Amino acid sequence: MEQEAYILGRNFSANARLNLQYFLWKDGGFSLHPSIPANTENLRVAEIGVGTGIWLVDLARYLPPSAHIDGFDIDLSQCSPREWLPPNVSLHKVDCVAPLPEHLLEQYDIVHIQLFHLAVHNNDPAPIIQNLVKLLKPGGWISWGEMDYSSWKIMRTEAGKDVEDNLTPLLGTIGTLGGTRPNWTADDWPIRLPDSFKKYGLTNIATNNRPFPLELFLFQLDTALMACEEVSYKALDPMRNGSGDQCRALISGVHQNRQKLAYNVGRLTVVGQRPFK
Ligand SMILES: C[S@@+](CC[C@H](N)C(=O)[O-])C[C@H]1O[C@@H](n2cnc3c(N)ncnc32)[C@H](O)[C@@H]1O
Repeated sequence: MEQEAYILGRNFSANARLNLQYFLWKDGGFSLHPSIPANTENLRVAEIGVGTGIWLVDLARYLPPSAHIDGFDIDLSQCSPREWLPPNVSLHKVDCVAPLPEHLLEQYDIVHIQLFHLAVHNNDPAPIIQNLVKLLKPGGWISWGEMDYSSWKIMRTEAGKDVEDNLTPLLGTIGTLGGTRPNWTADDWPIRLPDSFKKYGLTNIATNNRPFPLELFLFQLDTALMACEEVSYKALDPMRNGSGDQCRALISGVHQNRQKLAYNVGRLTVVGQRPFK
């Protein structure tokens, strides 16, 4: 995947936004799905698409110190420098959609991937799943976390029952990149992940889908608006067709009614295990 295809930002606000999103995601839940055993010695863990590396740092705090935790991304500029990472965490520049380096194959007990939707094309995660399964040792586990837009729902307070909904058109603008592509937020591959995992030989599949609680709606909304603004500058403005300005006008409209209208969406995690034989 070419780096310029990444439509979100990589500056300090984007870093802070990703980190906040991470903590909102795991709030009331988990860093690692509880059905994945993580207390064995010399565990080898990989994360695909690390962003700022927040998951790696979080996980290193409660895995046994003998665990080796590797992070892979096409761009590591959002991560901490080597000296400021836990000693058992290392980062590698790897394109996880391309064929993977031979020395990584069958090396991992756990492979974690989260918020990777933008790198999934044609509503089809199969090429990525097939690639990631190759990283697993026999008996190893994969965990994929993704926003479940199929459960996306506008939420209104009593005072907001008649206010204009700018969120739905905003989601459409971002999802279609200003009307230039099919709407990726309409993709149904995340909720089909259990079937896809089964198709590629994984067993012990478990799903966890948690909507946000009321008290987190606004915090989640703020991070979503930040992400939309990043896309408006980075991907829509270069089209020079006014879609960036239209997007920012919708963001402003949503913000004006921030305490009256928001949305909910599922935090979906699907895990599966490579059979021992
Ligand atoms: C939206 S961020 C999510 C980061 C992190 N997983 C999180 O939940 O905070 C997606 C990350 O995937 C990375 N990425 C995109 N395509 C990739 C690819 N083909 N191989 C590896 N990483 C990729 C991006 O560079 C970006 O850092």
